[in-house]
This record gives sequence, C-alpha cells and structure tokens, in this order.
Amino acid sequence: MSSTAHATVHPHGEGEGGTRRDFLTLVALAGAAVGAGAIAWPFIDSMLPAADTLAAGEPIDVDISKIALGQQIVVVWRGKPILIVRRTPEALKTLQDPKLLGILTDPNSTVMQQPTYADNWHRSVNPEFAVMVGICTHLGCVPVFYPNPSATDPQPNWPGGYLCPCHGSKYDLAGRVYSGVPAPYNLPVPPYKVLNAKTVRIGENPEGNTFDLNDIVQI
Ligand code: FES
Repeated sequence: MSSTAHATVHPHGEGEGGTRRDFLTLVALAGAAVGAGAIAWPFIDSMLPAADTLAAGEPIDVDISKIALGQQIVVVWRGKPILIVRRTPEALKTLQDPKLLGILTDPNSTVMQQPTYADNWHRSVNPEFAVMVGICTHLGCVPVFYPNPSATDPQPNWPGGYLCPCHGSKYDLAGRVYSGVPAPYNLPVPPYKVLNAKTVRIGENPEGNTFDLNDIVQI
C-alpha cells in the first residue's frame, strides 16, 4: 500500500512518527540554510501524505513529472527527508569527470550506502533522477542543494552538488562525499522503484530485491 506525495520534507533523526509541525519546522530551517546561489526547494505542504501514512512508514508514491531539469524536490519517508533531483545532461557528464572522481572519498560506491540496483556511477535506477536520503553522514544535518557549477560559490570551481551547513562536508549530485571533509560516507540511497515515467515509489524495491535501509553502513 502506498500514498501519493508531491513535494514534502521532514526532519531527520526522530524515528518514524513525525508530525506536520515537524515538517513545517524543517521547511523553516531549510529555508534559513539556503545560501546565495542555491536553488530553493519547492514545498507544497497541502499535498502532504496523510499523517497516519507518514507515521506508519508505508511506501509513498512521488510524482516526478513536474520536476524541472536541474531542480530538486524533497519528500518525507519514514521521517527522513528524501531528495529527488532531476539531473541535467551536463551534470551527468560531470559525475563521470575524472577530475571530480579524484576528489571523492568513495567515487565507486564501494561502501554499502545504497542498494545494489543503485550501485553504479549515477547511484540511481534512472540516471536522470537521483533519489537520496538528505542526512549528512557526519552528524546528521540536512545538506543544502547547490546544483549549479560556479567559479566561487560555495567554493572555487564548484561543479554542483551539496554543502552541509554544519561542518562543511560536501557531496556531488550523486551524493558522493568529498575527501577531506568530516562526513565519512556517501549519502544513503533509500529503497525505491520506478513505477512509470511519472512516478517513483519510495520504500519499495524493484522486484527481486530485498534491500532495507537498515542494511546500509551509516545513516
Ligand atoms: S553534520 Fe554535516 S558536516 Fe557535520
């Protein structure tokens, strides 16, 4: 059984029984954390799944058809912010750039931070759409989305990705962590399946897979 969500978010680290007030709190925090050059997350709180669905941690269906190229939405699953990014062709090219790979801690996703069906260079089922748990693997802050390449912001020669506002950990647009930052691991990838061109279901594996988020090394 699943519930439909469009663009929602929820704080991390508080178990599976989150509330609407928690959701709104994180929206405020996320808004405060978004710096210059970052793209704000679109939130449509009237489209939140029912509270009992959120509390039960059931799979949720997410409409990805309205995500523009280069944009991110955030949904809630089991009380965790799930980042869904529609990556541009340029971003996908960057993810394979040896210059970027050379500054990542685990560019080939050797540490189990994702299901086997996302154990690839784009860390996803469909290269165009990234689906990740938005919880920094250092101490659990929500990384801020800086998708656009920039000469200066948030750091020189920025290729696009995430910056954690708490202690400066950085991730690329596949959630792979940079070397030399406090966070030790790539962002987790939750269980999910692609139902059709418009919809992904968070919390359910493709047929034949048994991955559970508790199987990963660290969230
Ligand atoms: S919590 Fe993200 S860098 Fe410390």
